[in-house]
Order: sequence, then C-alpha cells, then structure tokens
Amino acid sequence: MAEETYYDVVAYPPGSYRQSHPDRLATLATLLGMDVTPVGACRVLEVGCGDGSNLTPMAVGLPGSEFLGVDLAAAPIARGNAVIAQAGLRNVRLEALDLLAFPEDAGTFDYIVAHGFCSWVPDVVRKKLWAVIERHLAPNGVAYASYNAYPAAHLRNAMRDMMNFHVAEQVTPSTDRAAVGRGFLTDLSGAAKGPEIWKQVLAFESERLAKQRLDVISHDEMGAFYNSFRFAEIVAESGLQYLGEASLRRLFTPLDGELVKALEGFGPKDLIAREQYLDFLEFRSFRETVFCRGSVQLDRDGVRGRIGKTYLASPLEKDGPGTGGATKFRNRQTDGVIQTNHPDVIRILERLGACWPSAVAGADLPDATEPISQLVAAGLVELRTHPLVPPRKAGRMPVASSLARVQLASGVRTTNLLHSRVEMNSAEARKVVGLLDGNPSQAALEKASAGIRGGVDGVLDLLYRHGLLMY
Ligand SMILES: C[S@@+](CC[C@H](N)C(=O)[O-])C[C@H]1O[C@@H](n2cnc3c(N)ncnc32)[C@H](O)[C@@H]1O
Repeated sequence: MAEETYYDVVAYPPGSYRQSHPDRLATLATLLGMDVTPVGACRVLEVGCGDGSNLTPMAVGLPGSEFLGVDLAAAPIARGNAVIAQAGLRNVRLEALDLLAFPEDAGTFDYIVAHGFCSWVPDVVRKKLWAVIERHLAPNGVAYASYNAYPAAHLRNAMRDMMNFHVAEQVTPSTDRAAVGRGFLTDLSGAAKGPEIWKQVLAFESERLAKQRLDVISHDEMGAFYNSFRFAEIVAESGLQYLGEASLRRLFTPLDGELVKALEGFGPKDLIAREQYLDFLEFRSFRETVFCRGSVQLDRDGVRGRIGKTYLASPLEKDGPGTGGATKFRNRQTDGVIQTNHPDVIRILERLGACWPSAVAGADLPDATEPISQLVAAGLVELRTHPLVPPRKAGRMPVASSLARVQLASGVRTTNLLHSRVEMNSAEARKVVGLLDGNPSQAALEKASAGIRGGVDGVLDLLYRHGLLMY
C-alpha cells in the first residue's frame, strides 16, 4: 500500500485545462510545420493527473484515442477511476504510480502532458519527467509542461516564506493552515511600514491570494514543494526543443513596438534568450511551455500560411447590418460586437457562426489569412486540428457526453467537448442531459423540458451550444 500523500488528505480541486488538450498541442505544432499524429487516433499520457478531471474529458471527446494518467496519490486516482467506470469509458486508465517507477515498457505516446507538476515535485521527480519524455515521446510527439516562472515567482516565494513561517506550528495539513497564512498576509499588508514599494508588493500579493481557493493555496503556495524557474533554465534542463507557449493568440500577435526596441537593446542571440528577456520585461509568473524532439525541423516563418491546414471555429454570430455597409457580428460568449466590410471574412464568419461550437476545415473556406490572423489574435476565431464538437445532424436524436451524464447527475459542473468547465444551473436541463443516453423516451424528454423556453428543441439547442452533445 502506497504511503498517504498530502494530496490524499486535502483534495486538489478538479480542473480541466484547455491549453493542455492534445488538440491545442497539435494545432501549435501544425502551425509551426510539424506533421503530428491526428488527435482522433493517438496515445496521450498525463503525468500528475490527480483525479483525472483534465484527462477524462479528453477521452470522452476523442473515443478513437487512448489515454493513460499517472499520479502518486491513490485517493484522487480512485475517485477518478470511479467516474470513468460510471461513464463506461474504455479508452482512459488512471494509475496510482510514482513517476520515478514509470514502467519502461509503457510504449510511446504522441502527446505527454504535465500540468501543475514541475513546480510542485522534488527536483529528482521533475528530472524524471524529462527522462520519461525522452524515452516515451513519439518522434513527432508533442509535450506540455507548466511551471512557476521568474521573475514574478520571486515575489511569490517571499509570500510563501512568510506564510509558512507564521503557520509553522500548524503541521496538520488542512485548509485552515492556508486560511491562517492568507489572513496573516492580509494583516501584514495593512500594518506594513518601510518603503512604499513593500506595501505595494504586499497589497498586490494579498489581492492575488484573496481570489484563490484555500485548498489550492494549501497545496500550490504553502505545500512541501514550490520550485520556480527561469524559462531558459527549463528549456535547457528538458533537453527538448522549444515549440512555443500553449496560448496560440501570442503566435498571431505582433510584439508591441516598445518591447521590440527594448529587446533589441538587450541583444538576445536566439529565440530562447528573446523569450527569457520578454519574461523579465513583462513580469511573467507562469509558463505553459510546449516541446518537441530536437530532431524535428520547424518552420516558424510559415505560421499564417498554415491556417488553411487547421479547423476554424468562432462564437461570433451574424447580427444584421452594421454602419457604412458593414456586417455586424455578435460574440455569443461576451456579447461584444465587431463589424467588417471584407466579403471573404463575412462569408467565413457566417459559416463558422452557423456551426459553433463545431468547426470548419480551413481548406473548405475562402483564403483570408491576414484578417483571420487578426481575429485569432483577438481571440474571436479559434484554430483546432479536430472539430472537437461534431456538427449537428438534423432529425437525429443526440447523445449527451457520458461524463456530463455522470457529473450532472450529482452536481452542476462538468467539462464539455471543448474542454471548458460548464456550470449547468437549470435542474430541468440537467435532467434532460441524463435522459440523452441514445434511446430517450420522447414523453420523458417533453416532461423534463416543459419549463424551458422552446421545449425539447430549445433545451437541445442550449446543450449543443454548451458543447455537451454528440451525434
Ligand atoms: C499541484 S498538483 C496538480 C494536479 C493537476 N495536474 C492539476 O494541475 O490540476 C500536483 C500533482 O502531482 C502529483 N505528484 C507529486 N509527486 C508525484 C510523483 N512522484 N509521481 C506522480 N505524481 C506525483 C500529486 O499527487 C498531485 O496530484
């Protein structure tokens, strides 16, 4: 029987991180010229997977792929495996395992993910992660690791140091310990003397911690390990090639002129040094770095030209005529409005808006590289390598995601096919999700939908838009 860990005693809150989804990694790699394994038929490993709340939804949306999660803590793994069994998933497996004992014969993986791992394990375990990637990543594989980054981590280290000093006598792992530590920082911030900069730092950090959950603080800020790194140090230690950061928007956003000038002044010699100076300039605190093998040939100059190799999706929907002959589009998620006169962009957005949250292959759309790049940079068009949400099929009764059926039977939160957390507060809508098992009774559906605008069609429309339905 494995030793109980702090993560067995205080549960880490469930999280799904879209930026760690294999589709995101595949999209970044495709844009940079890699020929990756399609995410619909691949193998994925997640290291430090906790209760599988990041991995399991990936397996639901990509039933032709195989997923393995490993974590040292047995309790979250048992909880995650219970959900997997209830949802009847056969393509995902969670194992209670110390990464240091990762089996050498586990085969190769096309995507390896370690979210929230490197900074919260001892050095030997982090170094083992790079060894596991070196041994098990496919030749065209893509890996992801997130970690606390300098320079902002210097401030976080100082806060952690003071909080842990204050609660030193409270050794029992609990969220109370985090509450006392956080309360102490707030008091310190109110009472601090000395230079103005110190008061500002304390106020800044207290505000940041006020927004965090106590279970997260008790692990992430006050737990046994809290290692921070310079970006360049992590890339060098990994022995891997830097692909980019998991946020695609940055790839399409030209650097601010002042930053370019400052960077030129510091004279970085290569991409890694340039990124490192950017961290110093922008006070970076966290990185989500994507890697590939050193042997892979990348083409960083052809990114925009490869938009046509991806799928495009957009939450913008046509909202009638705009001013001066333009067409107006409204963002379903934020209610923001944009206008455009560009005929190809209008055609593209009309098609994307009609099938959201599904996506359309870039090859089937008119070529409008420059304006679409701007929309990607603004977060209004998403690029994928897979539709993620299947298109609607008229006249067919959909099936709800099996994970959503399990999770919404006992709570209000689930993760959808876009890998986003969804809160479904309507009890009627949750009931309908439970009925959509492939063979629902029409009478039961009608009864459950009676209180919802639009009846059965209205609730199916709502659930589809939330990315919970498969056809
Ligand atoms: C900060 S939590 C992050 C959990 C999850 N990946 C997330 O980001 O929400 C770190 C996780 O690493 C796991 N872990 C720590 N040491 C490990 C080891 N030697 N082998 C495997 N997992 C380990 C912990 O049990 C914990 O679940």
